[in-house]
This record gives sequence, structure tokens and C-alpha cells, in this order.
Amino acid sequence: MFLLATLLGLSACITTVLGHASNSTFYNPILPGFHPDPSCIFVSDWDDTFFCASSSFNAFPGIPIHASKDLQNWKLIGHVLNRKEQLPRLAETNRSTSGIWAPALRYHDGTFWLVTTLVDDDRPQTDFSRWDNVIFKSNDPFNPAAWTNAVHFNFTGYDTSPFWDVDGKVYITGAHAWQVEPGLQQAEANLDTGEVGEWRTVWNGTGGLAPEGPHIYRKDGYYYLIAAEGGTGLNHMVTMARSKNINGPYESNPRNPVLTNANTTNYFQTVGHSDLFQDGSGNWWAVALSTRSGPEYLYYPMGRETVMTSVTWANGEFPIFSPINGKMSGWPMPRPNLDIDGPGPWISEADDINSFPSGSSLPAHFTYWRFPNPDSFTISPPERPGTLRIKPSMLNLTALNGNYAGPKAAPGGQSFVGRRQQDTLFTYSVDVSFDPKVQEEEAGVSVFLTQNHHLDLGIVMLPEGSANAAFPGTRNATKATDNTNKLVPFVRFRGISYISVPDPVVAPLPEAWSGKSLTLEINAFNMTHYSFAVGPADARSEMQTVMVVSNAPVSWGFTGTILGVYATGNGGNGTTPVYVSGWRYTGQGQFRD
Ligand SMILES: *[C@@H]1O[C@H](CO)[C@@H](O)[C@H](O)[C@H]1NC(C)=O
Ligand SMILES: *[C@@H]1O[C@H](CO)[C@@H](O)[C@H](O)[C@H]1NC(C)=O
Ligand SMILES: *[C@@H]1O[C@H](CO)[C@@H](O)[C@H](O)[C@H]1NC(C)=O
Ligand SMILES: *[C@@H]1O[C@H](CO)[C@@H](O)[C@H](O)[C@H]1NC(C)=O
Ligand SMILES: *[C@@H]1O[C@H](CO)[C@@H](O)[C@H](O)[C@H]1NC(C)=O
Ligand SMILES: *[C@@H]1O[C@H](CO)[C@@H](O)[C@H](O)[C@H]1NC(C)=O
Ligand SMILES: *[C@@H]1O[C@H](CO)[C@@H](O)[C@H](O)[C@H]1NC(C)=O
Ligand SMILES: *[C@@H]1O[C@H](CO)[C@@H](O)[C@H](O)[C@H]1NC(C)=O
Ligand SMILES: *[C@@H]1O[C@H](CO)[C@@H](O)[C@H](O)[C@H]1NC(C)=O
Repeated sequence: MFLLATLLGLSACITTVLGHASNSTFYNPILPGFHPDPSCIFVSDWDDTFFCASSSFNAFPGIPIHASKDLQNWKLIGHVLNRKEQLPRLAETNRSTSGIWAPALRYHDGTFWLVTTLVDDDRPQTDFSRWDNVIFKSNDPFNPAAWTNAVHFNFTGYDTSPFWDVDGKVYITGAHAWQVEPGLQQAEANLDTGEVGEWRTVWNGTGGLAPEGPHIYRKDGYYYLIAAEGGTGLNHMVTMARSKNINGPYESNPRNPVLTNANTTNYFQTVGHSDLFQDGSGNWWAVALSTRSGPEYLYYPMGRETVMTSVTWANGEFPIFSPINGKMSGWPMPRPNLDIDGPGPWISEADDINSFPSGSSLPAHFTYWRFPNPDSFTISPPERPGTLRIKPSMLNLTALNGNYAGPKAAPGGQSFVGRRQQDTLFTYSVDVSFDPKVQEEEAGVSVFLTQNHHLDLGIVMLPEGSANAAFPGTRNATKATDNTNKLVPFVRFRGISYISVPDPVVAPLPEAWSGKSLTLEINAFNMTHYSFAVGPADARSEMQTVMVVSNAPVSWGFTGTILGVYATGNGGNGTTPVYVSGWRYTGQGQFRD
């Protein structure tokens, strides 16, 4: 009673005196934007802090860790994968769905453990090297350098998760390559060396597609096994089984699935891939992934996000999960507490970055796609102090043939840096100074989902006769008399997707704007559409909308959109850098139903 009262503060204190703390109201998603496959823990040894990890696929730094002391305010405190030498193979995985899948975060005996899989799904399912299973550990999650290099272990599957049994033995449970032989497999493991024993199928799930995302919990003399089934789309669900013996046989919960929004009209769909944890008062919670798409499942550019719910877990029984909605009611929460170190930002913070001062580093939530070429990004270069200089890569965001930074790569990686879209409605803009010289040299802003799905607004050097559009009041450069060899700068919108996108728009950059710093702006002005605009940075009134486009082309697959700046030669030899300042992101609305 005393502990509860101290944690919950004055208002909760009053109700505690009356005999029960009041239930909380909270909102999903707790980690909006590209934060799929969550795994969370509560660590009393670290000042009663909750920690959550999520999947990052090809993003670098990878495997973000968010921390909270109150389950309401979440702060980015760093990334498990923050140095190339920890896992160099991330440079070689060339498919858009490759990279880091489903981390499992655990704390045991003073050490944080993170077990995950680097998936190279350009290789066959049965190819052992497709599944690079890895273990990281750290004695201080607030210090990026404390995360070790990867220790690799052998398993032809993914979603690997560790479990420490009461007798001191350690196990890893994972999802076997499901097109080969679907099932959840388990082996004894040495997490320090990566040695593993024989893999045994412990449960095949309830018959849903792709049993995956397993975690084991021990409670009341049972081993409880949680799993995701149905695939990560509209049929996604959470199921459970239990056994008195770690090796099984596991008996399926008669009330499966324990959590799903399948076959509902809820705005939150694809609910699955759950992890359970207990707070300081002993109440159980679960996190899972979900897509804000409704059953239409057409417009969900933020992809799979992290949601949370209360769980009631009675002695000797299977747990009962509250269904996922935008507005939730659940167990009492610790009172608001913002006392968390770490670089941040808080999950709902805006970006208002006027300049990139010398001696600073990029904000912790900025992300590259695979490893950056460090030479391509310079903060406050001598020729333009206070800007971020980005040198172009030969590769553009589509990066044909998957030639990234691996052994067969084009030099220079892919010049792109961004931040996650975390709000249904937002405005993102940057000011750029860019004076292209060579044909196809381009710099601009993108709503980037993967190499196969992105919407770009750039300034690009093209032959004078290339226009198919013009800004009102400007000369139309498509006249037959134009000198086709003369290169001039254009504004170009271009979209790449498996889902239909409008044709490119190519309009001559108005002469009055030439030599000026330009603002490039992306605005999600409703649930389904973005607008892309450009204008001189010193005259907002001259902003011109170049394109209004649906977000369906960037609603696909496993990841969520990243908003950022790119510079590319589009396969050519361009070397002209772009100078970036005035980086702004403002959330303008979160749709929850
Ligand atoms: C993993 O399997 C490969 C190929 O069978 C073998 O060479 C390697 O020694 C194994 N690694 C471990 C840690 O068992
Ligand atoms: C899982 O299914 C396979 C057949 O696909 C079967 O051989 C195996 O016995 C099953 N395992 C369990 C634990 O049910
Ligand atoms: C949803 O409905 C379909 C069709 O009736 C059914 O096959 C599926 O099992 C249902 N999914 C869940 C999770 O209830
Ligand atoms: C408080 O939340 C828990 C978990 O969702 C639920 O079981 C319980 O009924 C709620 N209590 C009240 C008074 O609403
Ligand atoms: C990935 O690289 C391999 C080997 O270079 C190549 O055969 C394959 O087409 C590439 N895949 C993609 C999706 O680019
Ligand atoms: C410029 O030329 C293109 C192609 O002929 C045409 O579609 C467009 O309407 C013209 N724009 C203006 C402003 O004249
Ligand atoms: C968003 O705006 C676009 C363009 O005006 C419109 O076509 C679309 O129907 C709107 N979407 C919604 C959900 O209102
Ligand atoms: C990207 O660059 C390649 C050349 O490397 C080029 O063929 C392609 O058209 C460019 N544009 C897009 C949108 O991919
Ligand atoms: C790039 O430069 C090399 C060497 O000067 C030249 O051979 C090549 O044709 C150039 N490529 C393009 C696309 O201009």
C-alpha cells in the first residue's frame, strides 16, 4: 500500500486510501510510426524503468530502445546496433524486407540481452545463411558503446527469444522457416558463445499461417509459450500454450486467440506479435504490433506500430488480454515521471532544428538506410557553417540491382537521412541550398518506405527541354526551340511503388528562385494524402504545390515511412553536395479510430 501510494502520487493516493487505485486511460499506439515487433521489460534494478525494443529492418542505427518510468512518456535512449563492426552484414542484405527482424529484449542477473535475426531474404528459405541469428548484451542500455558485437548462433529461422529456467539452463525459442516446416523450435543455448543444442519443435501453433514471435514465461509452475499466427496482415493474432515441462508437450489454450482484431472493423488491425511484462505493482501488461488501417488495409504509411494493453493473469490460468483500441482503459499507471537520461527525443516531440552547429552530432532519432558512408555527411562544413552537408551517392533511393554497401556495392552507399513519420497528420520541411552541375544530379526530400516504395520531390539537373509542367507565371521550358543540350535545374516529383503512382512532374525551377535557398515541404493533410511543395526559403508566400498524392503507394510490407533528405547522381558521376538547414517536423494530428 505504501509503495503504491508513493508511485501514483496525490490523486491516486486518495483513491488508494479508499482501498483501490484508479484505473488509467491511455492511448495507442504507445510508439507511433515504424516500431514493429515490440519486446518490453520492466527492470526494478534500473530505477523501476520500462524498456522496449523494436524491429528496424534496414534502418541504421538499428534496434531502437525506448524507455519509460510511467508507461505513458517514452524516450528514445539509444540503439542496440549503433556501430558497423557489431554486424557488418547489414550492408549486404539487398531486399527491401531484409535486415533486423523481431528483437527479444530481456534482463537477467544485471545484464541486458537482445536476441534477434539479421534476415537476408534474397537467399532461399532453406539456406542456412539466410537467417543470421545474433545475440547482443550490455550492462548499460544508456551507453551505446556498452552493447557488444554480435555473437552468432545457428538456427534456420527467426524471431529468436531467450529464456532462463529456474535450474540455471538457458533456452532459445524461435520460429522455424515457415515455408519449410512451420513450427516453434527450442534449443538449449549458451548466450555468451552462441553454442546451441538440438532444436526441437515444441509447438505448431493452432493451425494459423506462420507460427512465429515466440516468448516463454514461467508462472505458477507452468511454462507459458506465447506466439503470433496468421501472418502479419489482417489475420494476425496472438495465441498461447503451456506445459509443466520446458520441452513440452505444450497444450493449447482453449480460449485462443488471446488477442486479435481480425474480423473486426477496428481502425487498429493486424494486432499480433506480443510480449508480456509485469510492472512494479505486479500488474501484467502486453505490447503488440498493430497497423492503423481499418479492415480496408489500404492507407497505413506508418506501418506496424507498438500498442499496449492490460492483461489479467490469475493464478494457474491463461492470461486475459484487453482488446486493442485507440483509447484504452487499464491498470493504474505509475505517476508521470520524466526523469530519464538518454539522448531522446520523447516519442511525440517535434523537430525544430534551425542549424547543425559544429561539434554537434545528428539527433539520435535520425536514421539512415543501411550503413551510411561517413564521408557523405558533414555537420557544419567550413564552406557553409551551421548546415548539414550531404554528398550525393551514385545510387538513388531505388538503388537498382540492390548494390548497396556490400562487397559488390557501388561506392558511397546511399545518401539519405531521415526521421520516422510518427503522426497521421504532419508537416515536414527542410531548407536546401543546392546548385547542381551535372545531368541527373539531384537532391530533395522523400517519403521513403523502402527502395521499392518512395515518393520524392527533388531539384534535378536536366536538359532544358525536359519539362512536362510549369509553375504558374513561369516560362514553359518545353518549347521546341529549346536547346536540348543545355542543362538547367528542374523541380521533379517522382514516385516508385508496386502500387500505382502518378507520373513524374518535371517543371523548370523558376528563374527568380535560382541561387536561393529553397524550402521543400511534405504535408500529410488528411488520412490518405500527402502534398509536396517547394518555394524560396525567404518567401513562404511563394510556396507552390507540385503534387498531391495518395499514401497507398507507401503502405506496404513490414516497415513504416521515413521522412528525409537525399542526394544522388542517379547513377551518374555527380559530386555537388546539398546543404541542409531548417529541419522541421510537426505532428498535426493522430488518428485513433
Ligand atoms: C553453424 O553451422 C555451420 C554450418 O553447419 C558450422 O560451420 C558452424 O560451426 C556452426 N556454428 C556454431 C556456433 O555452431
Ligand atoms: C508439428 O508438426 C509436424 C508436422 O509438420 C509434426 O511432425 C510434429 O510432431 C508437430 N510437433 C508438435 C510439437 O506438435
Ligand atoms: C476471421 O474470419 C475468417 C473467415 O471466417 C476465419 O478463417 C479466421 O479464422 C478468422 N480469424 C480470427 C483470428 O478469428
Ligand atoms: C481496471 O483494469 C483492469 C485491467 O484492464 C480490469 O480488469 C479491471 O476490471 C479494471 N477495473 C475497473 C474498476 O475498471
Ligand atoms: C541482390 O544481390 C544479388 C547478388 O548480387 C542479386 O542476384 C539479386 O538480384 C539482388 N536482389 C535484389 C532484390 O536487388
Ligand atoms: C507546358 O508544356 C506542357 C507540354 O506541352 C503542357 O502539358 C503544359 O500544359 C504547358 N504548361 C504551361 C504552363 O503552358
Ligand atoms: C484527402 O484529400 C484528397 C485530395 O484532396 C482527397 O482525394 C481524399 O479523398 C481525402 N481523403 C480523405 C480521407 O478525406
Ligand atoms: C535511379 O538511378 C538509376 C540509375 O542508377 C536510374 O536508372 C533510375 O531511373 C533512377 N531513378 C529512380 C526513381 O529509380
Ligand atoms: C563517370 O565517369 C567515368 C570516368 O570519367 C566515365 O567513364 C563514365 O562514363 C561517367 N558516367 C556517367 C554516367 O557520366
